Amino acid sequence: MCGITAISATKEALPFLLQGLEKLEYRGYDSAGITTIENHRLFTKKAKGRLQNLKDLLKNESVTGHVGIGHTRWATHGVPSNLNSHPHTNNADTISLVHNGIIENYRELKDILILQGYHFQSETDSEVVVHLMDYYYNKTHNLQAALQKVISRIEGSYALCIVSTIDPDKVYIAKKDSPLVIGKTDNASVAASDIPAILDYTKDVYFLNDYEIAILDKGSVAFFDKDGHSISKELTTIPYDNEAAKKGGYDTFMLKEIHEQPHAIAETLRGRVEGTDRIVLPELNNMKDQFKTFNKAYFVACGTAYHACLSGANILERLTKIPTFTQAASEFRYCDPIIDEKTLCIFVSQSGETADTMAALRLAKEKGCTTIAIANVLGSSISREADHTIYTCAGPEIAVASTKAYTTQLIVLLLLAMYIAQALGYENEHYKRIIEGIASLPERINNILKDEKLFENYAQYLKDLKDAYYIGRGLDYASVLEGALKLKEVSYVHADAYIAGELKHGPIALIEPGSLVIAVATQPNIAAKTISNIQETIARGANVILFTIDGQEVGNVKETYILPKVDPILQSVLVAIPLQLIAYYAAGIKGCDVDKPRNLAKSVTVE
Ligand code: AGP
Repeated sequence: MCGITAISATKEALPFLLQGLEKLEYRGYDSAGITTIENHRLFTKKAKGRLQNLKDLLKNESVTGHVGIGHTRWATHGVPSNLNSHPHTNNADTISLVHNGIIENYRELKDILILQGYHFQSETDSEVVVHLMDYYYNKTHNLQAALQKVISRIEGSYALCIVSTIDPDKVYIAKKDSPLVIGKTDNASVAASDIPAILDYTKDVYFLNDYEIAILDKGSVAFFDKDGHSISKELTTIPYDNEAAKKGGYDTFMLKEIHEQPHAIAETLRGRVEGTDRIVLPELNNMKDQFKTFNKAYFVACGTAYHACLSGANILERLTKIPTFTQAASEFRYCDPIIDEKTLCIFVSQSGETADTMAALRLAKEKGCTTIAIANVLGSSISREADHTIYTCAGPEIAVASTKAYTTQLIVLLLLAMYIAQALGYENEHYKRIIEGIASLPERINNILKDEKLFENYAQYLKDLKDAYYIGRGLDYASVLEGALKLKEVSYVHADAYIAGELKHGPIALIEPGSLVIAVATQPNIAAKTISNIQETIARGANVILFTIDGQEVGNVKETYILPKVDPILQSVLVAIPLQLIAYYAAGIKGCDVDKPRNLAKSVTVE
């Protein structure tokens, strides 16, 4: 997704703009650009491709301006090209703008502006905004008033940063449904799409709400509502620094983040398990009496977070007897869900900015549901809009492929299910066993990580393959869905996950000598059934890698890995580790860029 940086300072703007864009590279992009104000003129440079291309363009330029905006573009409207990259400027070259989001009514606005004599250079939806700014500036002779008019006309999502020779010291900012954070030091005011881009400058930040306007002016920031009334905002101090966002000695962020899981899980559990029999979630204290009023629970998310939801819903239903439903956020809005004030809706998102998940959350609120967000990013949109938020404490996740965010989501979903069970009076011996098991997870994962070489060797089976099959049942099915997604996104090997019992209803037709089947059978009540399905694939020549528990081994499989003995409900957390490492090493064998897989973005802020 697009990344934005902006600065108004008493020193040169370019270093901040470029370092910030570098920190936002993880969001995925296909071109980059900057504008600074130099001697009352706009200086704009853009380049298709990597940020380095832009840096090369700027190498021999003297860029001394103190005010500027930067952008990395992830194409939505119009192909990746120099012309479509941001910043976009008005015809008089006096206003320059960067945008993240989608302007949904851009066609209608474009037609109107063309009739007014505006010339468009790009195919983007964003360019309409700069011409609209120009149009309203000509009417109001005031940039802030023009911006207010613009946000009353545009529909869709946007984070906008605008500079102009008309008011050369300032950056004008507005946002709706796209992330933007603002920071301040004594001599600079800065803004960016995400916290890591500004952390080297300041830890003191403001979060802009939808329809609010901010004006940066060399160390000061003024905030206004959409009608231009001045508003005050609270400063938040970010509790981590950029060291946490660096690779820490690992070759890639993905490998670092896989190895961080014992720590991330310990952090997520910190203060939430009391003694051997109590879950403490102060975030939900005022909900305790409400749980008995829910007659169903919906779990909604995208991608990896959706897979975490499949596990979470299964566990909540088992522990609390509340019927649960899981839905991909991109479907939720359009499937006319039967939800009301008796429905508990749980939204899971690492970034807390995913457009589909946000749209689903808003629908649930409209229908009167109680909403709980599970998010990793502090102050993210989802946490500001949901009724309650429980944070996963995974720390910044930089690799596009989610690893530690996934396992910490599983942990929070488990804690939530147990907390609700506790509130409804369902604690029993099983409940206590789970609590004991949860506390042991960081240590167990550390032990699994010691077998890394083994998983690297398992990845060799994928060396010459274009496809892989993952099978499991029940909770193991959610685990294999996530394992297959990981393999697809980082190694580009086509991987499908099937309910093991469904194989014989179709997919088994694909199995031939040499096919690779990765099977997960960790649930004692159904492991034997999965094992029969494994035998059916072996009979057709498949090579099988099996992840299972003691006592469920199978003859004739190529590899068997025995997972530590914990309550079956906790196995999804453990088996995630080897499946992530297989995907990671398969990507290495195939020579893929694991941290920034093609076509993918870390934070998907468009529908
Ligand atoms: C995970 O590896 C993916 N890259 C992706 O599926 C991700 O989980 C999804 O886009 C949801 O993101 P979120 O958790 O930030 O909402």
